[in-house]
Amino acid sequence: MPQKIAVLAGDGIGPEIVAEAIKVLSFINTDMNLGLVFENALIGGAAYDAFGTPLPQTTLNLCKNADAVLLGAVGGPKWEPLAHAVRPERGLLGIRSELNLFSNLRPAILYPQLVDASTLKPEVVSGLDIMIVRELTGGIYFGQPRGVHVAENGERVGINTKIYSESEIRRIAHSAFKIAQKRHKKLCSVDKANVLEVTELWRSVMTEVGKDYPDVQLSHMYVDNAAMQLVRAPKQFDVIVTSNMFGDILSDIAAMLTGSIGMLPSASLDANAKGMYEPIHGSAPDIAGQGIANPLATILSVAMMLRYTFNQPEAAERIERAVNTALDSKVRTADIYSEGMIKVSTSGMGDAVLNALKG
Ligand code: IPM
Ligand code: MG
Repeated sequence: MPQKIAVLAGDGIGPEIVAEAIKVLSFINTDMNLGLVFENALIGGAAYDAFGTPLPQTTLNLCKNADAVLLGAVGGPKWEPLAHAVRPERGLLGIRSELNLFSNLRPAILYPQLVDASTLKPEVVSGLDIMIVRELTGGIYFGQPRGVHVAENGERVGINTKIYSESEIRRIAHSAFKIAQKRHKKLCSVDKANVLEVTELWRSVMTEVGKDYPDVQLSHMYVDNAAMQLVRAPKQFDVIVTSNMFGDILSDIAAMLTGSIGMLPSASLDANAKGMYEPIHGSAPDIAGQGIANPLATILSVAMMLRYTFNQPEAAERIERAVNTALDSKVRTADIYSEGMIKVSTSGMGDAVLNALKG
């Protein structure tokens, strides 16, 4: 039976970058006879405009029935005035939660060709290879109570709740330890246990689970220190595991270490390695429609899909090597451009990767 990929381009630069990723994936699919089929659906603001909801039932059903989901990006200023319940972001959060995609892998790798694109000194970032494991279906993003209400004194009060059960912490801990075992066997759990009780529990469950993985060296760090260490000496990290919101923030920092947020892919996995794959950058409305966005994070997300969901490491490596070759040929989108390089459009970068694949 063919394996199905739900393709959700979304908003802003989403359609432009997804088109390039599909170009690359279609080629590999045919060339290696992978038997993948694609089906498109609307999500986010685009779905709201068409159906009045950021996550139509048809889209959700398609994602549930598919083997993997490829997502571009959601959101934009056009939909900011909307009520939270129908904001584009809710479409994305809805899929994460409905599909139980609790384990979010965000690898920050610095390609040596981009050392000068980073705002940090070359010696600080060269050779960087970090994996951030972000808990994705719990914590403050989903905790109840939430909302804004008017208190008795007539003042408005906003509330969100950071809540984690032991089992939620335990399963993300196991994901992270297993990943660390396949890497350099160092896991840093990031929390705010000096202030937040919920993360005190996080720390103690991490320590308990760690007993099952004696070969992995577990350390703990407060999130404020982790943010600082990421820009001070990022190479001290191998795998970082953290809660939903801390992971959101730290992965943007990690992305910039690699030269551009346009370089970081992600995989969001359930317990059976079914997953959604998306670049970690957003919809970048300021540059949407101009053909200048960097498609590499999305192309690299496709490589992660082939590796984690379809168990095709060779196909994944081919794409990753092709990205390397494209960068070797000096083509750069605007976000990673530096002097002496060749500036290309979104599709120019997609073509460079495709040509490298055809080699
Ligand atoms: C991310 C994004 C999302 C998040 C937004 C678009 C809801 O920032 O994937 O990092 O906060 O998780
Ligand atoms: Mg984010």
